[in-house]
Amino acid sequence: MARDAGHLDGAPREEGFVRSLLEAIPLPAFLISGDEKIEMTNAPGAQFFGDIALEGRHYMAVMRQPSLVSAIERALNTQSAVPTRYLRSMGDRQESFRVLVSPVAHGGPERAVIVTFEDVTDLHLAKEMRRDFVANVSHELKTPLTAMIGFIETLQGAASEDPAARARFLGIMGAEAERMNRLVADLLSLSRVESDERVRPTQTVSVSQLVDSTLRALRPLADKTDVTLDLRLSEPPEDLALKSTVIGDGDQLQQVFTNLIENAIKYGGTGGEVIVAVTVHRQGLGFQSGFVQVDVIDKGDGFDPVHIPRLTERFYRVDDHRSRGLGGTGLGLAIVKHIVNRHKGRLRIESALGKGARFSVLLPTDSPKPL
Ligand SMILES: Nc1ncnc2c1ncn2[C@@H]1O[C@H](COP(=O)(O)OP(=O)(O)O)[C@@H](O)[C@H]1O
Ligand SMILES: [Mg+2]
Repeated sequence: MARDAGHLDGAPREEGFVRSLLEAIPLPAFLISGDEKIEMTNAPGAQFFGDIALEGRHYMAVMRQPSLVSAIERALNTQSAVPTRYLRSMGDRQESFRVLVSPVAHGGPERAVIVTFEDVTDLHLAKEMRRDFVANVSHELKTPLTAMIGFIETLQGAASEDPAARARFLGIMGAEAERMNRLVADLLSLSRVESDERVRPTQTVSVSQLVDSTLRALRPLADKTDVTLDLRLSEPPEDLALKSTVIGDGDQLQQVFTNLIENAIKYGGTGGEVIVAVTVHRQGLGFQSGFVQVDVIDKGDGFDPVHIPRLTERFYRVDDHRSRGLGGTGLGLAIVKHIVNRHKGRLRIESALGKGARFSVLLPTDSPKPL
């Protein structure tokens, strides 16, 4: 503010002082003077509009959004703080900012304001996700409920004297109730998993043994559709049991393998083969210590790789109709992702249409103890 330099005590230092005040603000900040010019910005402010030279330019040349322009006009005229919002798209990302235009004393009759931009994009996204989630859950519950209400009405009326119809309708109602039950169970499990995602697990778990027992539990399901389950271990079982030890949560890891193997059985197709391979590695793939890799491989229809980035989203399904037909909730992989994150592991997904799918879970193994 060299212009004011003559008016004030200690004036030669004033511009430096104001600059240091602006720089101390951890948000993009702009000082706009009464002549509507951008007088000064801090470093985040300069970056905010793409590192172009801003100082000395008319603010409207840079901040074009009508709501922002009128907020600045109002703050300059009334000398009161005016909050507003600023939206912009950066690539395919919609950014939103909470803006405050605050009047500042300028050492004389002249008016000035400071404009700051606070990025609230993540907050907005979180709100949006919560809204979507509630809408999705309601929709998922409403479908079986509507069906059940319909059948109850039929049983009370037209079908009340027809034992064959009654038995069939009760069967369908049972299946719909099961679906709701599974959905609620998955929702509860998802919320539990999310709430302790930042809590480190403490149990000692042998991954190869856990995979083995999970496979045994799923054998009846596989038998129903004639699916062969093939366990492949990289080393003799006793060695692997020891080497594949991780610090983890046994129940949660069991859920990971159950969800993945169940999917492979369901989507791998009748009469197919599901391979589950357990391998230990000393290092690699970004892990500092050793890690154990569990691959769940099926030879079903697979899916177009474009779906991979979204597959672990809640309720995301490649083929909605098929998933529902097989009794899926659309939450299995979301649960898997959260559990794997909690264990500081990685989930890798590979597939191609008609080529089956491979889901790999990589978990860091117990760091070697000193001898
Ligand atoms: N092994 C697989 N082969 C083909 N598609 C799969 C496989 N595993 C998962 N998917 C796809 O990913 C979607 C999400 O899986 P998941 O979260 O377990 O939900 P769902 O309850 O539908 O099984 C499924 O609906 C399906 O479209
Ligand atoms: Mg599933």
